[in-house]
Order: sequence, then C-alpha cells, then structure tokens
Amino acid sequence: MLRNKFYITTPIYYSNSEPHIGTVYTTVVADTFARFYRLKDYDVFFLTGLDEHGQKLARTAQEKGYSPQEYVDMMAQKFIDTWKKIGITNDDFIRTTQKRHEEVVQKVFQKLYEEGYLYKGTYAGWYCTPCETFFQKEELNEGNCPQCGRPVEWLEEETYYFKLSEFAEPLLKYIEEHPEFVYPESRRNEVISFIKKGLKDISATRTTVKWGIPVPFDPKHTVYVWFDALVNYISALGYLSNDQSKFERYWPADVHLIGKDILRFHAIIWPAILMALRIPLPKTVLAHGFWTIKGGKISKSKGNRIDPHELIGTYGVDALRYFLLREVSLGLDGEYSDEAFHRRYHSDLANDLGNLLNRVLTVAEKYTEGKVPEPKEFRDEDNLLIKKTEEVAQKVDEAMANFNPANALGHIWEVIQEANKYIDQQAPWNLASSGDKDRLNTVIYTLLETLRRISILISAFLPNTALEIQRQLGYKDIQLAWDLIKDVSIPIGQKLNKEKILFPRVERKEEKEVEEKNEEPKISIEEFKKVDLRVAKVISARKVENSDKLLLLEIDLGEEKRQIVAGIAEFYKPEEIVGREIIVVYNLQPAKIRGYESQGMLLAAKDSKGRLAILTPEKEVDPGSKVS
Ligand code: MSP
Repeated sequence: MLRNKFYITTPIYYSNSEPHIGTVYTTVVADTFARFYRLKDYDVFFLTGLDEHGQKLARTAQEKGYSPQEYVDMMAQKFIDTWKKIGITNDDFIRTTQKRHEEVVQKVFQKLYEEGYLYKGTYAGWYCTPCETFFQKEELNEGNCPQCGRPVEWLEEETYYFKLSEFAEPLLKYIEEHPEFVYPESRRNEVISFIKKGLKDISATRTTVKWGIPVPFDPKHTVYVWFDALVNYISALGYLSNDQSKFERYWPADVHLIGKDILRFHAIIWPAILMALRIPLPKTVLAHGFWTIKGGKISKSKGNRIDPHELIGTYGVDALRYFLLREVSLGLDGEYSDEAFHRRYHSDLANDLGNLLNRVLTVAEKYTEGKVPEPKEFRDEDNLLIKKTEEVAQKVDEAMANFNPANALGHIWEVIQEANKYIDQQAPWNLASSGDKDRLNTVIYTLLETLRRISILISAFLPNTALEIQRQLGYKDIQLAWDLIKDVSIPIGQKLNKEKILFPRVERKEEKEVEEKNEEPKISIEEFKKVDLRVAKVISARKVENSDKLLLLEIDLGEEKRQIVAGIAEFYKPEEIVGREIIVVYNLQPAKIRGYESQGMLLAAKDSKGRLAILTPEKEVDPGSKVS
C-alpha cells in the first residue's frame, strides 16, 4: 500500500540577509512537522530554499562589490551551513537561479500567455524594493511602504499583467468551501475581506530589472521576482519537466508554512496562478506570527537582532528549537527576551527533563547495577504513568493536526512532570533502604520505560535530546518511530549508559548578581523607606534542584499568592517553614534565580556565628498586612 504523503514548504528566503531568528523560526517549525510525520511513517517531502532574483538582491550585491551570482552563491552557503547546524532535514533546497527552476518558470509563463492570462500594458505606480511589492498611491502609508515603512520608488514601465481580477470569484468560492485552506482563521478572514474589496490585475514582469528570468516570448522583460519565487513550490517537484514523478507524488502541498507578512502572495496570487494553470491548490496556507523584541520589529538597524548562532553556542540547538516552538502558539506573535529564553531553558529543559533523566539513571546506577531491572508486579500508579504516555501521544497527534506544536509540547511536559512526581512519591531510595527489591525494580523499570517513550514523544521537537536519551538508556540502534511508543518496551537487562547531564545550567551574569543580592542586600536609609514590607504566610516550600542554599517558597499575601526563592535552605528544612508567617519585601523587582522567578524577598537575620533566623511577626496577623 502506498504510504500517506506529506509535502511541507517554507518560504524561499531572500538571500540578501543571513538566517536570523525569524527565518530560523519558520524553518524549525517546518522541520518539526516534517520530522513528526516521518516518525509516523508518512512519505514526507520538505522543501526550503532561496529567492535569489530581484532588484533588491542585485543592488545589495553591487553595494558589496560582488556580481549577483557570486553574491547569491556565497549567501546560499551560509543558509546551507546554518540549516545543517540546526539539524534541518529538508529533502531539497531550491534556489531560483538554478536552471531547473528557471526552465519551469519560463514554461509556466509561456503557458499562461498562450492561455490568455497575461497581456501587455504599462505599469505606473509605486514600488517598495525591500519588499519587492507594487503599491498604488492610496495603499501607501504617509507616502511610504505600508509594510516596512520605507520610502517607495515611482515606476512607469511596460509590463505584462496577470489577470488576477478574473480569479476573485473562484477564489472566494474556494476559500468558503475549504475552511482549512488558510490557517489560522483570523488570517482566513483577512484574505476574504481583501478579496471582497476587489482584485486588480497585477504586474508580472519588469523591464528595468535585469537580474531575473527572461520572459520567453519577450526577453526584454524579466519575470517579476514574486511570480518567479512562488513557482519554486512546483519547480522543485519537476512540474512541466521531463520527470514529473515528484510532482505527481507530492503535489498539492499539504502545508505552505509562511509568516503573516506574505499571506496575500500565498493565499491570493499563488492560488490564482495555480487555478490558471489548472492544477490543484495547496491544502493549507499556514501563516505564523512574528517575533518581536520589546513589542517592536526585529531589525538589524535597531541593533536588537538576535543571533541564532550565539543562542546555539550558549544553550544548544534543542534549546533554541524548544523555545521557538513552545513559547508561542503557532499563528500568534511572540515576544523574544533573553530572560524568557533563560527561564524556559532552566525550568522546562534543565529542571524538568534533564533532571528526570539524571535522577532515574542515578537510582538505576545505584540500585540496579546500571541495568534495566526486571519488574515484578505493576501497581496502578505504575500503569497510570506508562499509560499516560499513550494518552499524550494521542493528544500530540491532535495538536499537530491542528498546527499547534506549543500545545503538543505542553502535553508532553505533563508526562515529564508526572514522572518527576512519581519518583518523589515512590522514593526508590526508601525502597532500597527498606529492602523491598521487587518494588524497587518495578519502580525503576517503570521510570526507564517512561523515559523511552518520552524520547519518542519529543523526537520531532528535540531531535538531539531524543537520541541522547536513547543512548543513555543503552540503545545501540536508535529506535524512534511513533508506533514504538506502545508496541515495544525497554529490554530487561539492557546496560544503561549514564553520561552527560542534559541541559547543564547556564549562568547569566545578571543572575549571579541577583543571587548575591538576595543573600545580603545593601540599601541606604532613604531607599529603605521606599521598601514595602508585608506579612506573608508560607503555603509550601521545597528545595531548588542542585542548590544547597535555596528554597522555593509559595507564599500567601492575602489577595495574591507569589513564589520566592530564599537562600535559607541550610538553616530551615522545607517542612519547618510551611505554615509560618514571614516578612517579605513586597515591591522588589522580580528576579530570576536558578531559573525560578523570585517575586519578592524574605527578611532574615544572620549573626557572626553563622546562625540565621527568619523575621516573623510576634503574633499572628492577616497575610498581606503591611509592616510599618
Ligand atoms: N522571498 C520572500 C518569500 C518568497 S516565498 C515564495 C520573502 N523572503 S524573506 O526572506 O523576507 O522571508 C520572509 C519570511 O521570513 C517570513 O514570511 C517568515 O517566514 C520569516 N520571518 C522574517 N522575519 C520574521 C520574524 N520577525 N518573525 C517570524 N518570522 C519571520 O519574503
């Protein structure tokens, strides 16, 4: 039987700017879908590539002292290297300067011309070179490009128009009949209302841009760069070439993943071209949101460009992938900050996942000779944990079908957190000291099997971590396939291979300072007067992982609950402090300590003998009471 196919594409990026967090984002998301469906045994074709023609490209090359071809060749290598570093598993890499692409564009153009969809005229209007987009006067924003805000140029030249206006009706009908065609729904509505305003024919060739594909029937024209670029999705499959087998196998695309900035090209112009060619439309145009910094556009000129290579150098590839996939739901805009990245890294990756593997392998090393033990009798709680991975697999499947990788990861993290709780509750160290060997073996087995399943669940998202977990679980031949979640189990007796810690802690400079401050704040009397002190009741307390000094407290402040990280673990056991009233600095700037946000600071006194005492009201008052 023929396997299901899945064809996913990214936009082909302009090669005049190096890969940045935005293009990395789209590519990582597409890669995750490609990996996910491969894991599920689909026949996947994942395409990315570069948009190498156009006025902007030619100008940039000239400014930098290269010929356009030299320049695009050099830039292509940078993209290829970056994608390799991030582990992008594209099946093809299309470049619009390749002969295989240029030939298809010319054939498409010829066909459209012969069928009467292109006609000669004159274009008079404005053009934004950075966006490579035509605008009419009324579309401009105070005389500038409505998309990027930069100045536009006046153009008046002979052109071949594409009869876009003819497709308004059929497009509307199609979109109405195919709710899945544009996703998310807000974007679909945007497209519908744009079409309803009426579509004008669009200029499809240029005479003043030489760096482009010559129009076969009138070579003083070159094909407009967007028209050229969109065709990549079928030229890469060999449409109208000698070998159309890939086109026949994979077209129509299942997902064109794009940013919201290029929605109209993909949900209006491209489908109209396809309709004119009489070939089916892609199943879904999936438009994601934009990453911003402090609410603004990410741009080089603002000096706030985030360097993906730097993030990879500090945190690793999987951390970058995880942050991009988890921090925002696909479709929404996302705010990037170093703090948010650091927090995700420490709380989700180091504390939840990294710790889980480390704890499990440590107990197995200690109590079962570093081997997978033979379980005896499974209890409900063991079955529940193992079964949970199957429920989660189902939910991940649904989340991915609904284009929501953030949600999928959320579900996977439920299992990870459950497993951490399970260790605490089962306390294998207690089972070892009480000599309950059978139970100990069963608990350790349950944890190892859960980790095996987790490695499959995460593998499309965090591919390197999935491999690392399997290696540490002792697999020589990696076993990653969706069906294996429930169809096999970890072999008894397999030698485990405890090695490096996943996601080792990364200390940020600010964090060090905060930690020092937290222990011994130095403030003047004027500053002290500004301090808002309140009474709080400790609701829960636990040690911060891998720290001898820090306790994580959940506190009640009357109208709100907060968490604080306090450097008192050497003096108070968590259970000693729960239920106590303490004094906290209420209006302290929240700070991140060991990956946890500390939303205040507790007051304590320390003497020269090294004794420490927490300040506490002399008799009980309501939580939240002000200290004055
Ligand atoms: N060459 C065209 C696309 C042609 S596709 C037939 C183009 N290239 S681009 O280099 O400007 O890439 C635009 C895409 O980069 C966006 O659609 C999006 O996928 C990605 N992003 C660029 N900046 C981004 C953010 N700040 N945030 C998220 N994605 C961003 O347009």
